[in-house]
Amino acid sequence: MQQHRIMLLGAAGQVGQAMQHLAAQDTPFPSWKLGLFSRAECDVTNPAALRSAMQDFKPNLVINAAFLARIDGAEEDHETADAVNFRAVAQMAAQCAALDVPLIHLSTDYVFDGRQSTPYLPDDQMNPVSHYGQSRMMGEESVRHETPFHVILRVSSVFGPFRRNLLTSTLKAIEEKDELRVVNDIIAGPTSVLDVASAVIMMSTAILAGKTDGFGTFHLCGTPACSRCTFTEAVMKAYAPHTKKQPRLTPIISNDLPHLKLRPRYSALECSKIKEVYGIEQKPWQDGINASLTILANAGRMPR
Ligand SMILES: NC(=O)c1ccc[n+]([C@@H]2O[C@H](COP(=O)([O-])OP(=O)(O)OC[C@H]3O[C@@H](n4cnc5c(N)ncnc54)[C@H](OP(=O)(O)O)[C@@H]3O)[C@@H](O)[C@H]2O)c1
Repeated sequence: MQQHRIMLLGAAGQVGQAMQHLAAQDTPFPSWKLGLFSRAECDVTNPAALRSAMQDFKPNLVINAAFLARIDGAEEDHETADAVNFRAVAQMAAQCAALDVPLIHLSTDYVFDGRQSTPYLPDDQMNPVSHYGQSRMMGEESVRHETPFHVILRVSSVFGPFRRNLLTSTLKAIEEKDELRVVNDIIAGPTSVLDVASAVIMMSTAILAGKTDGFGTFHLCGTPACSRCTFTEAVMKAYAPHTKKQPRLTPIISNDLPHLKLRPRYSALECSKIKEVYGIEQKPWQDGINASLTILANAGRMPR
């Protein structure tokens, strides 16, 4: 059996860990050699390190899950945000073109301005409201410019059992606080990292098997679109059997928190294209909460 060499950049992040979690239990992997490159193995902002890591590993496909997540920090430090989210992406895309290998690049709903009230389509106009979103948009544009053999997969509000995210920080807050004050006027589709990782594996498998109509920009998010407050309420319910804590949940509006002006107000993603092209379906985020709690409980990693 031919072994495909998959290079995963940003391997220590949520998506990277979820891919490793699925790899430990699932099937396409006997034919995969998954090369895990965390920041320590390959700092993507170091052009020489990125070049030699890609040349040495000789991938058949590259997955980029590395990015700089600090949305507010990006406003003060454009240089660092652009280095990770734009220039490094441009370089890896150019190198994928030179090596003639496809690139799967993860991106975000924050490329949209949030003024719509219906889910964003992959081809809708990008118009980010933050420098973070701007740097991600430039990253996407550089991928489109450098190589036609790309998948740009936009996801939103990624949560799961690995690292700090919407779910794990809510669990910690439940344990530590008497009151959770959470915005109820910012709407998005929270996405389980297990669903993101599974989609990336399915897309990679199809492309490596010779699928030629699978390139372009795709959306994936959990369903239904909801506010942070609704999501928090669901986490509190699902976690209730695991804790004695019952903090009060108070909905607030984003005007109360000035830094939230950097987030799109509405960024649900329309996901029919990924279903049509790859057969990948949107999943309820409630299932992702339940699956994540099971993984945390089995690993003895509940926050208490
Ligand atoms: N998390 C979300 O809510 C969210 C929302 C929308 C879209 N997404 C997309 O999903 C993708 C993966 O997100 P995630 O949730 O897995 O993020 P994550 O957990 O923050 O992981 C990002 C990874 O990138 C690494 N990284 C940062 N700078 C780097 C550099 N210079 N060189 C190499 N690696 C570097 C980080 O390294 P360290 O381990 O050293 O920090 C981290 O492991 C991203 O493209 C993101 O845009 C995520």
